[in-house]
Amino acid sequence: MSKQLFGLYPHCGQQDDLKGLYLTHRVDTLGCTTEPFVYANFLSSLDGRIALEDTGQNIQPYIPKHITTASDFALFMELHAQADCIITHGGYMRALSEKRLGNVLQVKSNKLVEWRCNNGLKPQPAVIIASASLNFTVHASLYEHQQDCFIATGKNANVERIHYWQDQGYRILKAGEEQMVQGEALIQQLKQLQYKSIYLIAGPRMLDTMIREKQLSRLYLTITHQLIGGLDFRTLLTGPPLADEGNMTLKSLYYEPNSPLGSGQFFMHFDLQPTH
Ligand SMILES: NC(=O)c1ccc[n+]([C@@H]2O[C@H](COP(=O)([O-])OP(=O)(O)OC[C@H]3O[C@@H](n4cnc5c(N)ncnc54)[C@H](OP(=O)(O)O)[C@@H]3O)[C@@H](O)[C@H]2O)c1
Repeated sequence: MSKQLFGLYPHCGQQDDLKGLYLTHRVDTLGCTTEPFVYANFLSSLDGRIALEDTGQNIQPYIPKHITTASDFALFMELHAQADCIITHGGYMRALSEKRLGNVLQVKSNKLVEWRCNNGLKPQPAVIIASASLNFTVHASLYEHQQDCFIATGKNANVERIHYWQDQGYRILKAGEEQMVQGEALIQQLKQLQYKSIYLIAGPRMLDTMIREKQLSRLYLTITHQLIGGLDFRTLLTGPPLADEGNMTLKSLYYEPNSPLGSGQFFMHFDLQPTH
C-alpha cells in the first residue's frame, strides 16, 4: 500500500497517496520551446542546511543519511521522469567516478520509463553537465543509455579543456561571461535545443544563478523536521542578498508524519515568475 500524506495547502485535511503525487503535476506539459519549464528539488533540514562539511578536515560536503528518506527519493524520481533534459555538474561526475554518490542520471524504474514513453518523452532525458574547470570524467551510463549529453561552461573556460571535450565529440554550450555557467545564458541555449521540461539536479551554485537570473519556474522543497547543526554547512543559495528574485508563491504543502522515523517532513512546491 502506498504511503499516505496529509494535505495542508491548498486543501487542508485531505489524504493523498505519496506514490504518483508529483506525476500528477505534469511538469512535462507546463513548458514549451520558447518558455521551457525549469524546476528544481531540494531537501533541507529545519535549520536550513542542505549538506554538512568539515572544512578543517577537507571532507567533501555530504547530505547526512539520517535526513534522507525513501519517500523523498521517490518524489525526486517522479520529477526526474517528467524531464526532457536534466542539468547536473562536473562535481557530480567526479563524485560518481570516486563512487562517493549513487547514480541518478537515469530514470531506473521500468514503470517510470514506460510513463515517459507513453507521454512522448525519450526513455531517458538529455544531460547537461555544467562545469567551470571542465575537469571530470563522463559517467559510462550516459553512453550505455544513449543519452544526449552537452557540456556547459563559461566563455573564459580553459581553451585546452574545451578542445579536449570537443575532440571527444561533445558539444560545448558557452553560457556565461567568465568561467561559470550563468542561468539566463544556459536557458537561452537550451531553448535553441528545444527542451521544454528542464530539471535542475545540480547543487546550490546552479540554483543560485537560476534564481538570481530569474530562470527558475518552480522549486520543490522537502523540509525534514530535524535540526542537524554542524559548524560548516551548505544552504540553498551561495550568493549575496536577493531582492524580489527570491519571492515565491506556495502552491502545495503536504505532511508525512514519522518519516524519517521519530520525526516528519513537509513536501512543498513554490512557483516563481521567470523571465525567459
Ligand atoms: N539536500 C539537497 O537537496 C542537495 C541538493 C544538491 C546538492 N546537495 C549537496 O550540497 C553539497 C554541495 O552541492 P554540489 O557539490 O552538488 O554543488 P555545488 O557546490 O553548487 O557545485 C559543485 C560543482 O559544480 C560545478 N558548478 C556548479 N555551479 C556551476 C556553475 N554555475 N558554472 C559552472 N560549474 C558549476 C562546479 O564544477 P567544476 O569544479 O567542474 O567547475 C562545482 O565545483 C553537496 O554535498 C551535495 O550533495 C544537497
